[in-house]
Amino acid sequence: MNYPQLVNNAFELAKEAQKRAYAPYSKFHVGSAVKMIGDDQIYVGCNVENVSYGATICAERNALNTSVALSGKRKLEFLIVVCDKETPIPPCGLCLQHLSEFCVSESIIYLANTKEIFKSLTYKELLPFCFDSYE
Ligand code: THU
Repeated sequence: MNYPQLVNNAFELAKEAQKRAYAPYSKFHVGSAVKMIGDDQIYVGCNVENVSYGATICAERNALNTSVALSGKRKLEFLIVVCDKETPIPPCGLCLQHLSEFCVSESIIYLANTKEIFKSLTYKELLPFCFDSYE
């Protein structure tokens, strides 16, 4: 499958970030890269674990938070997540909820392992019924 050049660039950057994952407990290394609408940069993140386990932060949330801080933009164009499994993983439920603040109808999530981008899904496909308001 052919993907846009920017997505392929993000894939390479996410793989680099995955190599820097701090995962001494699970040994499961995850990398992620994010592009925001209206910004040309790609921002990356990796999972950073903690001995408490609960304070661990996933690669996707780290990439997204960096994008928010450095781009100043608020709408996600796409996110890619890379892991070592044969069948790539989707973002966890906590990450999907976190992403809900910045996803729009056209936001795309790419699932990849280190060999290839496996699948692309809209955010809505991954979380069709999202808690996004209490008013
Ligand atoms: N992890 C991610 O970074 N992203 C996901 O979508 C799923 C899980 C991390 C958290 C933890 O460091 C390790 O993978 C095992 O759950």
